[in-house]
Amino acid sequence: MSFFTNQLKVWFSQSHRPLPWKGEKDAYLIWLSEIILQQTRVEQGLPYFERFRERFPTVHDLANAPEDTIMKTWEGLGYYSRARNLHAAAKYIVHTLKGKFPSTYEGIRALKGVGPYTAAAIASFAYELPYAVVDGNVFRVLSRFWGIQTPIDSTEGKKQFANLADRALQASSLAPSQHNQAMMDFGAIHCKPKAPLCSHCPLNGQCAAFQNKKVDQLPVKSKK
Ligand code: ADE
Repeated sequence: MSFFTNQLKVWFSQSHRPLPWKGEKDAYLIWLSEIILQQTRVEQGLPYFERFRERFPTVHDLANAPEDTIMKTWEGLGYYSRARNLHAAAKYIVHTLKGKFPSTYEGIRALKGVGPYTAAAIASFAYELPYAVVDGNVFRVLSRFWGIQTPIDSTEGKKQFANLADRALQASSLAPSQHNQAMMDFGAIHCKPKAPLCSHCPLNGQCAAFQNKKVDQLPVKSKK
């Protein structure tokens, strides 16, 4: 485990993507960025994040905004329930939680539109709570490095990968926010779905998929 976490750390220190929410500690803005990115590519989501931050700099601004202003700002992103949930959650935070963004995993998870992945992202990025994010990038990185063939969309697979992701986070000398961001960035820009950069990968010495020439076969999805 320490080879994996150490090499990932080295890679991250040399290969960060400059993203506007990196190093952000305002839980509200982190939440905003993660909701926007839920079904959206980073390049597409970026201008929306900037516009929302400009028009609604605090959770109060979002809660007090008319619904149609929010929907207008969201226009073009799709999955409009995300925008409605965002508004409902902002009102809940302002009116029920007195404007204080929840600071526990369970509290964050209770917000409308926040699932386990998004809760782990906010809990770690905003509060350095040790929750490992498990998204498509993380499934891919873990399945390849450890040569895991369990389908990522099976009950057993989800358990297995969540477990492994937690162990990696525990073993890492990076703070939870940095380790999670490193996992996501590594999957997004190095251990890519197509044409991953294996020949100059700092993990290839112990990557099961690379050693066994199975990179293009992992991760496994069960046929539906
Ligand atoms: N996709 C979802 N959250 C992300 C993040 N924090 N950084 C990069 N891509 C992401």
